[in-house]
Amino acid sequence: MWDKKKLLTIDELSRKDIELILETSGILEPHASKGKLQLCRGEILANVFFEPSTRTEKSFQAAMHRLGGDVIMHKDPGSSREKGESKLDTLRVLEQYSDIMAVRDPETYSLQQYAETLALPIINAGDGSNEHPTQALLDLYTVLKEKGSMENLSIVFTGDLKFGRTVHSLIKALRKFPGNRFFGISPETLELPVDLKGGDYEEILFEDMYGIRPDIVYATRIQKERMVSWAGEKFSYEINNDVLRKLPSTARIMHPLPRVNELNPEIDSDPRVIPFKQVKYGMVVRMALLALMLGHEKELPSQGLSN
Ligand code: NCD
Repeated sequence: MWDKKKLLTIDELSRKDIELILETSGILEPHASKGKLQLCRGEILANVFFEPSTRTEKSFQAAMHRLGGDVIMHKDPGSSREKGESKLDTLRVLEQYSDIMAVRDPETYSLQQYAETLALPIINAGDGSNEHPTQALLDLYTVLKEKGSMENLSIVFTGDLKFGRTVHSLIKALRKFPGNRFFGISPETLELPVDLKGGDYEEILFEDMYGIRPDIVYATRIQKERMVSWAGEKFSYEINNDVLRKLPSTARIMHPLPRVNELNPEIDSDPRVIPFKQVKYGMVVRMALLALMLGHEKELPSQGLSN
């Protein structure tokens, strides 16, 4: 059972825990734009980003505001970290001012270490190339809304499956539901880490994707910032109108964003292409996490799913 004191990896969540988070998201979604919720009134989120972010940072901020709470932001540069203060000391300071913390760090597994010292609830907003559990939860919410189920799906992942933390967390999360099959399309040097491969996972070529008739194509960018050098510009798994024509009408194209050249903007108007829905649901799912981890489950509004 998830103790709701930390969310560092999808491994902490059972299928039931995930269902609770998604149900809570469904309850909060109709309220997400009205600015009327006061569930977290008087509470403060410390939103700490030791690595660049747009969606995760802003959606955590918006989520806390939509719940009636407040946010203190920490971003480097611009702090005493430039004077040599350690990340852990910085977090221990911010802990004195806040009730819950979201942390993004370029170092893999660092959040586990921080959580051992800090007493407040802590959420992993991305730790290096390891995991990005809140992205996986918003991806699952998107899949559920779009496909009506999180079971028996064929999901194709393209791009950087080695360093792409969103892929790692999403595969772990989808494995909690029966019948899902995974297909990876990547340069050989950027294959999925061995410990995440399994009997339900197959490496394929881009052209093989059409025969699979996937439910979801989840495209990702090459994480150049996590490599010493990258000379693989020849690899392009661009999804454009030609590719889209060969995919089923029931398929959905997802991407955690930012996109570089994986999704040609010419496909943006196709209803199967849904990265900006993921963005929208990201705030809703983060609202649910904040509300649950701050102990407001009993005060949720009474409305159910909005679809
Ligand atoms: C992703 C991340 O930070 O891992 N972005 C996000 O949070 N939506 C994906 C990426 O940076 O490629």
